[in-house]
Amino acid sequence: MNSPTRRMSGTIDGLIDAEQARFAETHPRSAEAWARGREHFLYGGPSHWMRRWAGGFPVYVEEARGCHVRDIDGHDYVDFCLGDTGGMCGHAPAAVTRAAVRQLERGTTHMMPTEDSLWVGEELARRFGLPYWTLTTSATDANRGAIRIARMITGRDKVLVFSGCYHGGIDEAHVELHDGRLRMRNMIHPNGVDHSRVSKVVQFNDVAALEEALAPGDVACVVMEPLMTNFGMIPVAEGFHAAVRELSRRTGTVLVIDETHTLSCGPGGYTALNGLEPDIFVAGKAIAGGIPAGIFGVSATVAERLWQVVPFVNPRQRQSAHFGIGGTLAGNALTVATMRAVLEEVLTPANYAVMLARAARLADAARAVIAQRRLPWHVTQIGARAEIMFIPAPPRNGAEVAATRRGDLETLLHAVYMNEGILVTPFHTMFLMCPATADADVDRHTEAFARFADMVVAHGAA
Ligand SMILES: Cc1ncc(COP(=O)(O)O)c(C=O)c1O
Repeated sequence: MNSPTRRMSGTIDGLIDAEQARFAETHPRSAEAWARGREHFLYGGPSHWMRRWAGGFPVYVEEARGCHVRDIDGHDYVDFCLGDTGGMCGHAPAAVTRAAVRQLERGTTHMMPTEDSLWVGEELARRFGLPYWTLTTSATDANRGAIRIARMITGRDKVLVFSGCYHGGIDEAHVELHDGRLRMRNMIHPNGVDHSRVSKVVQFNDVAALEEALAPGDVACVVMEPLMTNFGMIPVAEGFHAAVRELSRRTGTVLVIDETHTLSCGPGGYTALNGLEPDIFVAGKAIAGGIPAGIFGVSATVAERLWQVVPFVNPRQRQSAHFGIGGTLAGNALTVATMRAVLEEVLTPANYAVMLARAARLADAARAVIAQRRLPWHVTQIGARAEIMFIPAPPRNGAEVAATRRGDLETLLHAVYMNEGILVTPFHTMFLMCPATADADVDRHTEAFARFADMVVAHGAA
């Protein structure tokens, strides 16, 4: 058996091996650190994500500033991963560092508000258009809070998500559609839960399927990104948001829009740019400049319905105070101070203009590399984010991504990047700009991508 496909995947495997060997040779200190890390961390590093880098092991960071990372072997990287968005403000942004140091000297966590929180609350309402906010320690937590509130006020148990989504460690969202049936994503264990009882999943951009799924009136909320960014970037089809809003209103379903990643579209996210009207708005990651934080905002209607269930009073009885939404460190003074610095000084309209221009430069240059070599690939750019995919046009939904994905080429490209000093999110080929990303940083990517494209053409592996 020596089919062309086999020969090709053998070729790509060989190229990956060669890139990984080069990486191991030039990163001896990181290799040694990784070997030590495996002795005491369950998956090698402090978080299991950290084993996913295509060089074969992660680089250990000495220092990161702006969009540059220096590893312990002395290599400089241009960082388009930016902590998978947590670093979208750039590494060590001066305004955030100043605010953090000032607050560290005054106490970080008191379970009492600071005056900075007043400014933050007003700014969140102004920026994102929803009146009432809660701070959490992560976007995952913000989504959990949103789902809990939706269930409390609707009395329904089901959560609807789109196939290929990721919303953090949310059980209800760990599902996908496979041959029309709901199943768990990747290697996620169902943990004894029958997910078809708590989740519904439909394909993105599929209005008819959404209408059918919401029709029985048993869905508490739809949780969605305004465009998908976690299974390759999947743009939203014309009219889809209007349909989602109309169907969710008609069926009494709460609409949760998760802008944890799409905050890269502009200062008010995709929501403000496009006049969306979520009942609950969620974000996190970059919102406090890399200090762990999430936020969710609710409409006046959702707030009033919630106060019916959990009254806004300070009870006389010293009973247990939680109602299922929490995080002792949520909204602490450090988070609030850094969130204020981000909103006031970093994620400003002027900085977004720079980030968008750099993303356009990267996308245009990558398109030129593709066109010059007549490769059947495309580049999507939306706001400060771009993605290269090995198919000719953007996918419409997760099913199209699953059917066409070239994991081998992705791994090779990422391994080339690791050797050429480029960091992108290790899960797919997505690029994010920060205010410090310069034209020269983008151009370094173009050169690395061209080397990869030439390698693929030379080996007939496209
Ligand atoms: C859209 C979206 N929502 C929520 C999350 C969860 O963020 P965190 O892991 O910071 O809680 C992610 C993480 O990738 C995300 O992409």
